[in-house]
Amino acid sequence: MMLKNPEKFMGYLFEVAWILPSVAIPVAVITAVVLTAFAVGLRVPDVAGRIEPKAIAVTQPFDEPGLRELAPGKYQATLIAQVFLFTPNEIEVPAGSEVTFVLTSRDVIHGFKIVGTPINMMVVPGQISRLTVRFDRPGEYLIVCHEYCGSGHHVMSGKVIVR
Ligand code: CUA
Repeated sequence: MMLKNPEKFMGYLFEVAWILPSVAIPVAVITAVVLTAFAVGLRVPDVAGRIEPKAIAVTQPFDEPGLRELAPGKYQATLIAQVFLFTPNEIEVPAGSEVTFVLTSRDVIHGFKIVGTPINMMVVPGQISRLTVRFDRPGEYLIVCHEYCGSGHHVMSGKVIVR
């Protein structure tokens, strides 16, 4: 009976052609979010604490930035971000280490990404950012500031060396 009115039938088809993607696209987006969160293990870091930026030099653990071994194979790397460097800008750990990165910023908002790992967070003045990752494969992992922070943003980098 639809074919008695081909114009109307084409109208239905056209409508269905819009309805299907409008359902399929949100489903695909939600699937991607769920997959990255649970299968790939990407984590959005939450605020691990607050800090007075002017008191960084006298506030633990930022009074002594660097690498600390907490237990065999477990490390904490404390770094301070400021225009346009990370202090320290090089961390060296043995393969198989679990490293918790703890950062804050002395001045403006910076980014902290370790290429080839799920570590990707914002470093905000007044806030402590914390994320943990395991380095299984030896190699050099580039650290980049991925939040535009000024004229020297592009040189703000560092590295993790896994032996
Ligand atoms: Cu720090 Cu861009």
